[in-house]
Amino acid sequence: MAALADGSRAVISPHPDLSNRPRVTVFPMAERTFSILKPDATRRNLTGKINAMIEDAGLRIIAQRRIRMSREQAEDFYEIHKDRPFYGELVEFMTSAPVIVQVLEGSNAVAKYREVMGATNPAQADDGTIRKLYALSMGENSVHGSDSGDNAKIEIAQFFDADDIVG
Ligand code: CMP
Repeated sequence: MAALADGSRAVISPHPDLSNRPRVTVFPMAERTFSILKPDATRRNLTGKINAMIEDAGLRIIAQRRIRMSREQAEDFYEIHKDRPFYGELVEFMTSAPVIVQVLEGSNAVAKYREVMGATNPAQADDGTIRKLYALSMGENSVHGSDSGDNAKIEIAQFFDADDIVG
């Protein structure tokens, strides 16, 4: 087993046709995404049920912490929405009760988690998704998940040190 520069693993084995050419099988590094179980979920004691849905979908919760988000953390995290009419309400909500911040890992973790969460607006979420089952409204929608691999890295770094993530 060899570690490649991007964290992927390669296994080199004799080629099955017994030629001199070895066979190289690359196992891509599992992707990571950032997740928040929001105040409406912690208030209703739903964190175990939501974690079970995450794990049943094949994602691993490789880091997790229950925190009370500060106003500054919430404002920074949602800065991209600063000019939207719901920004103030969003910051108030995210600081209104504890949240669980998580790092999820798995194949295509970003897309997979977005599928498991369902649409932002619970009225449009598919059956069997977290938001269809538990979200109360567009704002109080139980979970957050990164929308891209690049944003996942930025969001993870906002809440976790590399040492916090042991795999
Ligand atoms: P999230 O995935 O955390 O990313 C941005 C959040 O803003 C979103 O989930 C919702 O909780 C919230 N949001 C988006 N649109 C609205 C809206 N129209 N009204 C209130 N909150 C919203």
